[in-house]
Amino acid sequence: MKELLFSGVQPTNNLHLGNYIGALKQWVSLQHTYPCLFSVVDLHAITVPQNPRDLQERVLDTAATYLAIGIDPVRSPIFIQSEVSAHTELAWILNTIAKTGELERMTQYKDKSAKDGVNASLGLYSYPVLMAADILLYDTTVVPVGEDQMQHVELTRVLARRFNERYGETFVVPKSLIQKQGARIMGLDDPEKKMSKSALSSYNFISLMDDAETIQKKVSKAVTDAEAEIVYNEAKKPAISNLLTIYHHMTGETVAELEERYKGKGYGDFKKGLAEAIIAHIGPVTAKIKAYREDPAELMKILDQGRDRANEMAERKLVLVKEKVGLGRK
Ligand code: TYM
Repeated sequence: MKELLFSGVQPTNNLHLGNYIGALKQWVSLQHTYPCLFSVVDLHAITVPQNPRDLQERVLDTAATYLAIGIDPVRSPIFIQSEVSAHTELAWILNTIAKTGELERMTQYKDKSAKDGVNASLGLYSYPVLMAADILLYDTTVVPVGEDQMQHVELTRVLARRFNERYGETFVVPKSLIQKQGARIMGLDDPEKKMSKSALSSYNFISLMDDAETIQKKVSKAVTDAEAEIVYNEAKKPAISNLLTIYHHMTGETVAELEERYKGKGYGDFKKGLAEAIIAHIGPVTAKIKAYREDPAELMKILDQGRDRANEMAERKLVLVKEKVGLGRK
């Protein structure tokens, strides 16, 4: 079977270390193993209210981030989801086979709609169906995501199988790719909650746009656990375990090596080392994001090419799907 990797990030606020460690960092190494497509999923972003002007800026920031972390756009097209209209067309078709009960079970929907109740948008409800369309349009085999998106990829698999049973073999059934360590980075201010772009406090996350001083401040304020030992134990020491996971992803050292390095040392030393490691790893990425944003011509060219390549692939699949369903003229 021909492999294809697809993934995307919503252009809402600046991306944070959770997005980077849970998803984007994997993309960089995987681009050498698989043909890839990376999308900036702006249609997903509008399932909650956005300021239109800010959204357009964030779309470009997100595309610039893909490039800054090292995605090669020649090898792996980068495109804006709303510029490839097949995504919304396929999402509609898949809406007709998705069950409302399945969507009600989605934990992200339950979390995001909790405060709005019946006023939550229909878009938020069918969000996972649009995500399924993103994935299925390209015969995707592999979807690298953080743990919070696993349920959506599971639903994608269910919809692909259901469509194939009803209309004949059409879609490839994809698999999610979740890392063992770092699939769920927790908030620095609360190790019980995941690091999130929409967190109320900016001390929850480290953004890829944070400067060195801000990173130092956020790390020094990060919540720790009772005993001052630097050991990994998710149940007893969730805060330090989370910081060790972040540290591991910043330097490549194993958690065991880090525990050894900080044996007998206190949280002060550990946090100082962690902040330095984050600054050393993220600093160059931040500088590159800014450089891409200052050269819009280059960014536009890359996005134009990405759109054209994605459109060509997506259109081919959509024609086939419409034919299977019996849409349009014979
Ligand atoms: P989004 O924009 O919320 O997050 C982007 C990626 O970051 C991961 N992630 C995390 N990983 C570890 N720890 C965290 N605290 C953390 N927070 C976020 C997410 O799992 C995700 O991989 N629905 C998707 C976007 C999407 C998509 C797709 C992804 C739309 N269509 C098709 C893959 C394939 C989302 O909202 O991600």
